[in-house]
Amino acid sequence: MPTTTCTCGGKAVAKDVKDNIFLPKEAKIIRVEKTTEMERIFTLRLADESQMKFEPGQILEVGLMGYGEIPLGLASSPTRTNTFDIVVRSVGRVSQALNRLAQGDSLLVRGPLGKGFPLENLRGHDLLIIAGGIGLCPTRSLIQYTLDRRKEFQRFILFYGARDPQQQLFLADLSDWRKSKDVEYHETVDRGDPSWKGNVGVITTLFSKTKIDPGTRVVICGPPIMFKFVIRELEKLGVARQNIYLDLERRMKCGVGKCGHCQINDKYVCTDGPVFPFSEIEKLEEAI
Ligand SMILES: Cc1cc2nc3c(=O)[nH]c(=O)nc-3n(C[C@H](O)[C@H](O)[C@H](O)COP(=O)(O)OP(=O)(O)OC[C@H]3O[C@@H](n4cnc5c(N)ncnc54)[C@H](O)[C@@H]3O)c2cc1C
Ligand code: FES
Repeated sequence: MPTTTCTCGGKAVAKDVKDNIFLPKEAKIIRVEKTTEMERIFTLRLADESQMKFEPGQILEVGLMGYGEIPLGLASSPTRTNTFDIVVRSVGRVSQALNRLAQGDSLLVRGPLGKGFPLENLRGHDLLIIAGGIGLCPTRSLIQYTLDRRKEFQRFILFYGARDPQQQLFLADLSDWRKSKDVEYHETVDRGDPSWKGNVGVITTLFSKTKIDPGTRVVICGPPIMFKFVIRELEKLGVARQNIYLDLERRMKCGVGKCGHCQINDKYVCTDGPVFPFSEIEKLEEAI
């Protein structure tokens, strides 16, 4: 077994390298899909062929030698194959470098990190997932999981909002969900175009399309501005704050509770989250 040795204080300390939370693993790119002008979907497999064990809602630190590493949500369900998906939006140095990679290239992954969606609190109830923009990436993991274990949940409702039809992600999935009997799928765009025949308006306009029971468990992921308006609608419907879960995105560096970059008061988004019940963070300044 590989060991590192420390002789501090004259004592030898052996540590299994596999337990090192800072040690990345190599992952191979099996497939790349350019899904919009800004985003690419990568399907990855660990180079040692081992299974990536994770829960929906967990994150990875994804790195490239010479560029750095960035936090990204896992965008596929652990119930599917021994590959896993991430989506990278080109915004800066690391994400642009990642989006230049091609099938067969390698990158580095550290994780899975953080606490994902609380499956034990969601099972057995109606589930409403509300995803805005790139918020569909981490929620896609839970969507696939729910579809694969459909009997464990009651009604399954999905709201998805994008800025315009060209910004919609996972087009093949959207096409399946529109036809599926296992999910009540509602979608909207802020701005339509001549080809768009669906709803136009912000994501809260979808609440008029269906009836939501107050006992529904709700998961929300999207731009911070969306949280406030969606929560207002849910409160009108009588959904309890402890049954509303928010997937927060904060600046992260280490991803393991050491550097403080993601801290909101006494919470570390990387280790206490990124998924929090609204009741736990509603009083934290700047949480949403
Ligand atoms: C929990 C979590 C999950 C995430 N999941 C995804 C995902 O699935 N897909 C994805 O594409 N991105 C995701 N992000 C955002 C991603 O980590 C940032 O886009 C990335 O760190 C930018 O790094 P960069 O070097 O490319 O850009 P930089 O050169 O560091 O920055 C370029 C621009 O992006 C802005 N920026 C940097 N970091 C963030 C951030 N965390 N949030 C918002 N704006 C930022 C900067 O202010 C700057 O304007 C996630 C972030 C977190 C914390
Ligand atoms: S990212 Fe370093 S403490 Fe959370």
